[in-house]
Amino acid sequence: MKAHLSRRYHFPASHRLHLEDASDSENDAIYGKCNNPHGHGHNYTIEVTLSGPVSGKTGMVCDLAALDDFTEKEVLSGLDHMNLNNLSAFAGQVPTTERLCVHVFELYQKFTLARLERVRIEETAKNSFEYTGS
Ligand code: NI
Repeated sequence: MKAHLSRRYHFPASHRLHLEDASDSENDAIYGKCNNPHGHGHNYTIEVTLSGPVSGKTGMVCDLAALDDFTEKEVLSGLDHMNLNNLSAFAGQVPTTERLCVHVFELYQKFTLARLERVRIEETAKNSFEYTGS
């Protein structure tokens, strides 16, 4: 018997959406207020979905404490209260939440206790993005 589990984590971070090789007016047209020179913050919510067989012993797909520990060390520590534009993961790239999804998905690929299915990130109450590995 296989099941999916999803767990949510929260972190604040800032970013600025800006293409270095585009003009101010082009950047404004593409990104609007998100191109503000001083950047802006979001309270991001990560929802990671994993799957696997339900253990006959524990009745669980995976140990949530192990997932929390991994997330703290491998995912949140590098993102929490950061300016995403300054992270090496986004060097030369605009740190949109689409790209943040891909980055977080790649970080979770090192988690070996269950199969990684999806990373979904809520940026605002209106916007969410997800990535499933392709
Ligand atoms: Ni933004």
